[in-house]
Amino acid sequence: MIKTDASIFFDKFAVTFDTFYDGKRNALMQLIDKNFRKDIFLRFTYTFDSFGNLKNKTLIDIGCGSGIYLLEALKRNAKHITGLDPATEMLKLTEARLSRNGFIDKFRLIESIFPATNLGKYDYAIVMGVMDYVKDPSTFLKELKNIISEATCVSFPSKHWFRTPFRKFRYSLRKCPVYFYDENEIKNLAKSAGFSKVMIKKIQGAGMDYHVTLMP
Ligand SMILES: C[S@@+](CC[C@H](N)C(=O)[O-])C[C@H]1O[C@@H](n2cnc3c(N)ncnc32)[C@H](O)[C@@H]1O
Repeated sequence: MIKTDASIFFDKFAVTFDTFYDGKRNALMQLIDKNFRKDIFLRFTYTFDSFGNLKNKTLIDIGCGSGIYLLEALKRNAKHITGLDPATEMLKLTEARLSRNGFIDKFRLIESIFPATNLGKYDYAIVMGVMDYVKDPSTFLKELKNIISEATCVSFPSKHWFRTPFRKFRYSLRKCPVYFYDENEIKNLAKSAGFSKVMIKKIQGAGMDYHVTLMP
């Protein structure tokens, strides 16, 4: 399998990344996360609010990381879920999370970057915290449209005069290129990918991601 700079980075960062969610970080880091990484929690809420009832639906989480969204989708009675991520260590965390919650037969994990071939079709797709690392967002969104029938929620990092160059610099030290978007770029990308409905919400807070719901 092709390994991108992002997947190499996330392989090493997987365990630390997972501690954002489970409150296992020290008090100072929890304070920083609460104030500067609020987006991570808000985009979770916005995603499940956008999808509504998932009972008997199928869903793919592209760049599923440690499986937080997949677990929630199963708790909301999704019929079957698929997690795709190129980082082996992230997939191990996902597998452990879903299995210890008793969802042994309800998921499939794929170690790959997206776009990938033969993924099949899903009612919904989640793409959270991934567009930051995608060099060709146009092809990515076109392929995304092909595999869903109802809706997809995608987060895009916004451009900020201070945070953007600072984050670019930090990630260049990790040899992991990062990309940023404005609202017009998102609209144009979604339109040229063929999505008929585009709903863009700007998350207020330090990270200021866009939370975008797209319908084919
Ligand atoms: C910041 S993490 C977000 C994980 C999860 N979506 C969440 O919000 O908790 C980004 C994940 O995207 C994965 N990733 C990066 N580029 C990708 C690509 N082209 N296709 C699929 N996954 C990708 C990384 O390996 C990493 O696990």
